[in-house]
Amino acid sequence: MALKVYGRGITSHPCRPRQSAQSVLKNRLGPLHSGRVSRKFRVVIFLSPNRCCRIKVTVFQRTMTEQIVILDFGSQYTQVIARRIRECNVYSVIVRYDTPAEELAHLVPKGLILSGGPASVYAKDAPHPDPEIFKLNIPVLGICYGLQLLAHYLDGKVEPGLKREFGKGTLCVKDSFCPLFANLPETLQVWNSHGDRLTKLPKGFKSVSVTENSDYAAIESRDHKTFGLQFHPEVVHTPHGREILANFVHNICGCGKNWTMHNYIDQAVENIQAKVGDEKVILGLSGGVDSSVAAALIHRAIGDNLTCIFVNNGLLRGREASVVREVFGRHFHIKLQYEDASRLFLTRLKGVTEPERKRKIIGKTFIEVFEEATKRAGKAKFLAQGTLYPDVIESIPIAGNPAAMIKSHHNVGGLPKKMRFQLVEPLKCLFKDEVRELGLELGLPREIVLRQPFPGPGLAVRILGEVTPSRLEILRNADAIVVEEMKATDWYYKIWQSFAVLLPVRSVGVMGDERTYDYTIALRAVESQDGMTADWVKLPYDLLEKLSNRIINEVKGVNRVCFDITSKPPGTIEWE
Ligand code: XMP
Repeated sequence: MALKVYGRGITSHPCRPRQSAQSVLKNRLGPLHSGRVSRKFRVVIFLSPNRCCRIKVTVFQRTMTEQIVILDFGSQYTQVIARRIRECNVYSVIVRYDTPAEELAHLVPKGLILSGGPASVYAKDAPHPDPEIFKLNIPVLGICYGLQLLAHYLDGKVEPGLKREFGKGTLCVKDSFCPLFANLPETLQVWNSHGDRLTKLPKGFKSVSVTENSDYAAIESRDHKTFGLQFHPEVVHTPHGREILANFVHNICGCGKNWTMHNYIDQAVENIQAKVGDEKVILGLSGGVDSSVAAALIHRAIGDNLTCIFVNNGLLRGREASVVREVFGRHFHIKLQYEDASRLFLTRLKGVTEPERKRKIIGKTFIEVFEEATKRAGKAKFLAQGTLYPDVIESIPIAGNPAAMIKSHHNVGGLPKKMRFQLVEPLKCLFKDEVRELGLELGLPREIVLRQPFPGPGLAVRILGEVTPSRLEILRNADAIVVEEMKATDWYYKIWQSFAVLLPVRSVGVMGDERTYDYTIALRAVESQDGMTADWVKLPYDLLEKLSNRIINEVKGVNRVCFDITSKPPGTIEWE
């Protein structure tokens, strides 16, 4: 283990007893690493100069030596930058914009990226980096606001533009030797979104490409390996953006292509084993992608010391319970504790129509059932969760940054604190697409790995009004047809979610010679990156026609099908 202690290693915070840096280290490592420090971790303790206020312990995995660090200045695209870098098979992490240079240096980044952001560099509350980062002798790429920071700190000038440049632009590369544009055409389509513009180059820089509106669309100080882009290479509207970022991480920063899910498995397995040792782990398996992949990964690491608890709340889709039992129980031989609590849930939901009350009842009942189940599962020290990277990235509260909106993630809050488990979260540094890839690497079937998100309260939030066994049956039958047809046309895999909603309003119809008076199914299909905002999907008419025909002909109790054309906002994705 490489241990460095800065300061004298003693803290004397007025509210804390004096404690040695070693004990701080042990306390901080406790939950993370079971008190045992392995050679895989490098630990750095920072003490404030007067040794009394701020203690920060940075623990990072030494195996991820090649990483790009992204300083987040509040752009809505910061996570997209991180994902694009990882698509180049290079590990990337996002840190706050004001992370001290000293701390960054200890992450040993191969390169730094300064993200965009909604502020003006000269505004009063603008986010600024530690100026020392420019002396770290690490390649730097500033994107949009990041480019303007380069100018601000390195003796250039930024001024408000006459008009805001927003949308597509054409970039002409003036210097084809600039390594950022290696092997790319001389004219490129790019995406802009900025108000301020550079009016004087920073010291030692030259312009390497221009757009219709800017003489400084890309700038470089090649000797110092420092580059700036006024446009956004990370968004899909910059078609060659990935190659520009790949040029930065491979050609300029010198990163290899080691970040793959195949490589990640070994490393994650070792980390889990080091943390858990011979203790037992419990995992709440929902059948969704995240908990399923977490289960398969942890099982690979600790085998039978993992027990998965699957609660059937009676609100699941058609084959859900059987698929989970088949895949995890029979195929993976994972210890699976199946809790059929459907009767309890449905009894408690009887007569309840108000959406929030339904959710509360389901949430509370789940906790009760899960708590009881954990007692039966035997004594366990750890609880595993499928937390993902976007759930743990701290969003930067800068006005104008939509990413900084308070996340109303439905699962946050989760299980009560009195359940005294330590957490195991092996997917905490992964994005969703990486988790899916990892799932396939671990041998999980496509049916699980590529499934669309499904809400915890299940079909209850897709049945408006009271949830009854007969309404559940109607919705399950309609849902099965939607899933089948969406998969058959591949639309299922291209979009965020597609499902049926049961509206308990009856309308008149005719079938054959008979008059009918039955329920309505609303079809919902949305595109989204993270569920926070969504657009309705323009499904082809012939697919909609087929869905409507099949649902009305095959699902007893339904005589009308509608298509929901509401985006989010103002609608939500689920109907309740
Ligand atoms: P809304 O309806 O809020 O949904 O626009 C956004 C995303 O979250 C899913 N969702 C849930 N997921 N527990 C979950 O695990 C829940 O209670 C829950 N409610 C909604 C929804 O399916 C969509 O993907």
